[in-house]
Amino acid sequence: MSFATISRRLATAAAVACLPLFTSGWLSGHQSTFETKGPVARTQLDVFYVTLWVTMLVFVLVAGVLAYATLKFKARKDDANKTMPPQGHGNPFVELGLIALSIAALVVIAVPTLRAIWYTYDVPEEQRANAYEVNAHGLQWWFKFEYPSEQIDGTGTLVNANELVIPAGRPVRVNLRTADVIHSFWVPKLAGKVDMMPNRGNHLWLQSDEPGYFWGQCAEFCGESHSVMRFRVVALAEADFAKWIAKQRQPARIPAVAPEQPKLVAAGYVPLSNPKRNSPGYTAEFDADPMGHWVAKQEVDAGEDVALALHGRTVFKEKSCITCHAVRGHDGMGVNGPDLTHFGSRTTVAAGLLENSKVNLHRWITQPNNVKPGNKMYRGVNGMAGYMTADAEGDMTVEHIKVSDDEARALVEYLHSLK
Ligand code: CUA
Repeated sequence: MSFATISRRLATAAAVACLPLFTSGWLSGHQSTFETKGPVARTQLDVFYVTLWVTMLVFVLVAGVLAYATLKFKARKDDANKTMPPQGHGNPFVELGLIALSIAALVVIAVPTLRAIWYTYDVPEEQRANAYEVNAHGLQWWFKFEYPSEQIDGTGTLVNANELVIPAGRPVRVNLRTADVIHSFWVPKLAGKVDMMPNRGNHLWLQSDEPGYFWGQCAEFCGESHSVMRFRVVALAEADFAKWIAKQRQPARIPAVAPEQPKLVAAGYVPLSNPKRNSPGYTAEFDADPMGHWVAKQEVDAGEDVALALHGRTVFKEKSCITCHAVRGHDGMGVNGPDLTHFGSRTTVAAGLLENSKVNLHRWITQPNNVKPGNKMYRGVNGMAGYMTADAEGDMTVEHIKVSDDEARALVEYLHSLK
C-alpha cells in the first residue's frame, strides 16, 4: 500500500470517526457549552467558533502545503537522479505575506474576543435597571446563595443553598465570594467561568432566555471533593419567581401544616427534547424532566408521616445539627452548613451530587464521607462536632456523632417536610 493510499484512508477514517461528534449529540448534555440558553454563553460560544474556524483554516492551509510538498517532492524508486533538488531560502514575498496573514488572523480573532470580554464583564448599561442581584459564596464543597434585595425582619438576608433560583429573561448579576479557598462559578449553558477569590470581590452576569433547569459546577480545584461541588440554576417566569420568593421568605413549615402559598407551575418551561443520563445520583425519570421534579418538590410530600417528622425535629436538635444548619423559625441557627429552612423543596442534596430522595438523603446523613469525601458534616468544623472519631485525626477533640438508622429516618422525614 502506498503512502498516499494510507494517508487517504487515515483521513477518511478520521473524518468518519468525528462525524458522531456532530450528529449523535455528543456535544449536548447537561453541561454542554454548545447548547447555549442565554446571551452570555452564546457570546462566549461565538468567540469559540471564530477562533475555531480561523485556526482550522490555518491548519488546513499549512497541512495542505505540507502534504503537497511531501508527496510531490519525495524521492521515488525509479528516480534516476537522486541528488538534492535546488534549495530555496529567504523569499521576501512569502515571508512578509506569512507575517501579514498571521496578523490578519490574530485581528480577526481579537476583535470579537475583546467585544465579548466587554459584553460579558457586567450587565450592559441599558439593562442595568432591570437586573436582579444575587451573591454566590463558594464553600468547601457547596454554594450559598444570598438574595440581598430580600431582607427578612430579625434574621437578615434570604439565603438558599446549592439551588440558585432566578427570574428568566432578566439579566442576573452574581457577586462572587468565597468563605475559604478559590472556587469557580460555572453554569455551562448560561455563563462561565469566573473565580471566587479570597479577599477579592469578583462578579459575572448571566441571563436565561427561557424558564429552565440548569447544571452548574465549581470549575477550580478546591480540595478533595472539588469534582462533586455542584449546583443548579432554576430560571422561572416572573410570576413564578415572585411566588417562589414569597414562599422562601416564610419561616420553616411545621409538619402537618399545609403551606399557604400559591402553587408554582414553572410557566413557559419546555422539557428537554433529548434528555441526557449523565447523572449517576439521579433516576432516569428525574433526568427526563428535572423541572417537573422541581415543581413537585414545592408541594408537601404525599403520605407524610407527621409523627416521624416531629420526632425528626427533636433528633435534629439533640444530634446538634442545629449548630451548623439554620432552620429559620425552628431550632437551627448555625451558619457553617447550608440553610435548611426550605430544604424539602430542593431537588438535590449534597451540593447537587444526589437527587433529593429519601434513600439518598438517608445515605448522605448516615455515610456522609462515602458520598462526599472530607466534608465538614463528617469531619467537623474547627473542633465542633462532626461524625469523625477523635483518634482518626490524632489530637483533634471531635465529638463522634452517631445517628442510628431510625434516627436517620426521622431526620429524613423532618427535612423533607421543610417546604
Ligand atoms: Cu470549589 Cu472546586
